[in-house]
Amino acid sequence: MEFLNVLKERYSVRGFENKEVEADKLDKILEAGINAPTGVNFQPFQIFVIDTEENKQLLSEMYPQPWFVEAPIILGVAVKPADAWVRKFDDKNIADMDGTIVMDHMILEATSLGLGTCYIGAFKPEKAKELLNLSDEYEPLLFSPLGYPNAKPRDTPRKSKEELVKFI
Ligand SMILES: Cc1cc2nc3c(=O)[nH]c(=O)nc-3n(C[C@H](O)[C@H](O)[C@H](O)COP(=O)(O)O)c2cc1C
Repeated sequence: MEFLNVLKERYSVRGFENKEVEADKLDKILEAGINAPTGVNFQPFQIFVIDTEENKQLLSEMYPQPWFVEAPIILGVAVKPADAWVRKFDDKNIADMDGTIVMDHMILEATSLGLGTCYIGAFKPEKAKELLNLSDEYEPLLFSPLGYPNAKPRDTPRKSKEELVKFI
C-alpha cells in the first residue's frame, strides 16, 4: 500500500471479528515497534502483547468497553521516564513522545497488513499497572486492540490545511 494511503486508511476500529491474528503479522507489527526512533536512542519503553482471552477480566476493568475485548490481542506500551532523554533547558522528559511513536509505528504497520487498531488512552492507570505487573518506574502509556475490523469508521473530519499549517 502506498504510504500516504496507509495513513489515510487507518481509523479507530471499535469492533472486531472473532478471528486470530497470524503470528507472522504480529511479528511484523512488533518489528515496526522496536524500530521506532527514540530520543538519543534511549529506548525507554516496553511493549506488551496481551492475550485478551487470558486477561479478559482485568482488561474489562481497565477499559470497560465491550468492543475492546473483542480483539484477540491487546497491545500495550509502557514507558520508563527515568531512562528517557530530558531537555536541559526546561527539564521536559520525552518518555511519552517516545512511547507514542512506538505505538504509532505498530498501528500503522497493522493497518498496512489489513488489521484494525484503536489508540486507547482513557484506561484506568491503576488497573493497567496491575495487568502489566509494572514496577513504580514504569508508566502505562497507551493500549490498542489488534484484530480484524468489524466496525465502520466514525465521521472524524480533519481541520483544513489552512487551519492546521502555518508557513512562516
Ligand atoms: C493518544 C490517543 C488516545 C486515544 N484514546 C482513545 C480512547 O481511550 N478511546 C477511544 O475510543 N478512542 C481513543 N482515541 C481515538 C481518537 O478518538 C480518534 O483517533 C480520533 O477521534 C480520530 O478518529 P480516527 O482515529 O478514526 O481517525 C485516542 C486517540 C489518540 C491519538
